[in-house]
Amino acid sequence: MRIQKTLYKISLCGIRMRIAVVADLHNSKWDEIIEIIKESRPDIIVNPGDMFGSLAGESRPEGDLTGRYIAESNRNAAGFAFLCAAAKIAPVFCSVGNHEVRVSRENQRRIADTGAVLLDNSYTTLCGGVILGGLSSGGAHGLLNTGNPPDTAWIEKFGKLKGPKILLCHHPEYWEKYVVGHGIDLTIAGHAHGGQWRFFGRGVLAPGQGLFPKYTAGVHELSGERLIVSRGIGNLRAIPRINNPPEVLIIDIE
Ligand SMILES: [Fe+2]
Repeated sequence: MRIQKTLYKISLCGIRMRIAVVADLHNSKWDEIIEIIKESRPDIIVNPGDMFGSLAGESRPEGDLTGRYIAESNRNAAGFAFLCAAAKIAPVFCSVGNHEVRVSRENQRRIADTGAVLLDNSYTTLCGGVILGGLSSGGAHGLLNTGNPPDTAWIEKFGKLKGPKILLCHHPEYWEKYVVGHGIDLTIAGHAHGGQWRFFGRGVLAPGQGLFPKYTAGVHELSGERLIVSRGIGNLRAIPRINNPPEVLIIDIE
């Protein structure tokens, strides 16, 4: 399926910046994505989670890791290769998706070796004073399973920082429940895969939001705070996407 380039233009605290968003790669093929990013000349590239499968690492105690997580951890080469290629174009920042919770030390190091920066309930300040944070997933799989809540104390602390704030937050369903009201100017999410099938501009189903989900794509605003949801790249293997091509988002802040 061809990957679409979607452009959104927003204003935010007088900043000028172009952000390329690659969400939910799920270790898919990425050569077409890199070409889109190159021609777009972004200032930064962000991945709001699920670049990989499991990042918990084989060396960790299994705990509640399922066989699926272990199998996923063996397929991460594509994700690491993508990060290496992307980091040659512009600075790359990632947050932790639901497939990636409990990132092992070894995988933290491997991500750092690609040149990308992992924001695991942490933030960094970019040139120009923009504060970029990454809120980690509480971990959840399934249509109605919302998993553990995210780190709400970290959200509060991040929201109190002085300056324009952009948050990578894998789950769009976290936004209204946990993020809005903390003065976070822009939140960038994925996870919903556009609602998998799209009809009349709406998605049909999304993990954590169930049937006819509210947040699957596009720009949303509440109380002066904004959410942009990417329809992302990856397919759920068993369920095809319909009227829902994978996308690389370009966000022009101007
Ligand atoms: Fe996800």
